[in-house]
Amino acid sequence: MIKKTKSQTRFREALHPRATPQSAFVSQCLRDRAFYADEKTLVFKADARAALAWLGEAGVQVDCIVTSPPFYGQRDYEVDGQIGLELHPSEYLSSLLEVFDACRGVLKSTGSLWINLGDTYWSGKGQHRSDEKKQSARRFGLRPQDRKGDGLWCRPKQLLLIPHRFAIGMQERGWLVRNDNVWIKPNPIPDQVNDRCSMSHEYVFHFVKERWYYFNREAVGRPSARGTSLPPFDTWIVQTSRGNGRHKASFSEELIDIPIRATTPGKGIVLDPFAGSGTTLHYARKLGFRSIGIDIKREFCDMMVRAVKGISTGSDQSQRPHSNIQRGQISLTFGEQ
Ligand SMILES: C[S@@+](CC[C@H](N)C(=O)[O-])C[C@H]1O[C@@H](n2cnc3c(N)ncnc32)[C@H](O)[C@@H]1O
Repeated sequence: MIKKTKSQTRFREALHPRATPQSAFVSQCLRDRAFYADEKTLVFKADARAALAWLGEAGVQVDCIVTSPPFYGQRDYEVDGQIGLELHPSEYLSSLLEVFDACRGVLKSTGSLWINLGDTYWSGKGQHRSDEKKQSARRFGLRPQDRKGDGLWCRPKQLLLIPHRFAIGMQERGWLVRNDNVWIKPNPIPDQVNDRCSMSHEYVFHFVKERWYYFNREAVGRPSARGTSLPPFDTWIVQTSRGNGRHKASFSEELIDIPIRATTPGKGIVLDPFAGSGTTLHYARKLGFRSIGIDIKREFCDMMVRAVKGISTGSDQSQRPHSNIQRGQISLTFGEQ
């Protein structure tokens, strides 16, 4: 008899992760704390760190976490406990890292974490006077980056390199960085600058906990000339979302297509700890997966519930939506680099 090596066993286990029992998903302790609960979806109105602890206590383990945290100094959600308006970017990074430490506890060892993050310039300009209509939703008095600054990271014209610092922080806490996918925006918000290039990209980092993890290349690949499946490129050309009703910072389903399809197995669970209007939940539910959304603001939790209620809980995991994401040639099989 040929004996399997430890890594062969873990490789096989990663291909077929065990589904989290439905009894944990619908447990009374979670339903008591949920803003909304049905057999496929849970919504929590809470600080992400608190709700992640509840999930951990209930024994819920998820397969795929996809999220877009508040970017530094971009928006005021007008709710106590919000992340994003810390006085120094290092405090913001600490808050984010704390949330993703908590995510680690609820992510399966075979799971993936995808984080969309954009950067911010320090301006040091003081109060904004612009009343330009298009930008007005983003103005909220003195933003942290409009303050005087520390003269080092925080000096006028400095790109803070938030995504880079964040990814290095994640590495230092034990996460494996698989890709720093670049989201290229063909329709970015115009930058009012004349001495640098105009920003038209953000990152979608792919982190995992372990070397062996679930990745369904066939679900997201593109056919090669020989009829085999090539993995997607790490550059994704996707239109920006125009916002979802009263939520001005929503992302599009197209941006989360690869993350969800590639790293959620059948009967899997998708989690978004900064779920906003519920794009992740809506899309995961459409594909037949169970989903969990957390947001600190009641208005957004209401939006999430409306988003998921419109979708029947049937599975259409086999169907592919229309997508113009460029699919590419990086070799991304288990155990390779
Ligand atoms: C960029 S938005 C996410 C948008 C979402 N991807 C969508 O498609 O609508 C970030 C969200 O994080 C929420 N948020 C801010 N601080 C939070 C915290 N401490 N815990 C949980 N949610 C928080 C905000 O209310 C906001 O809805």
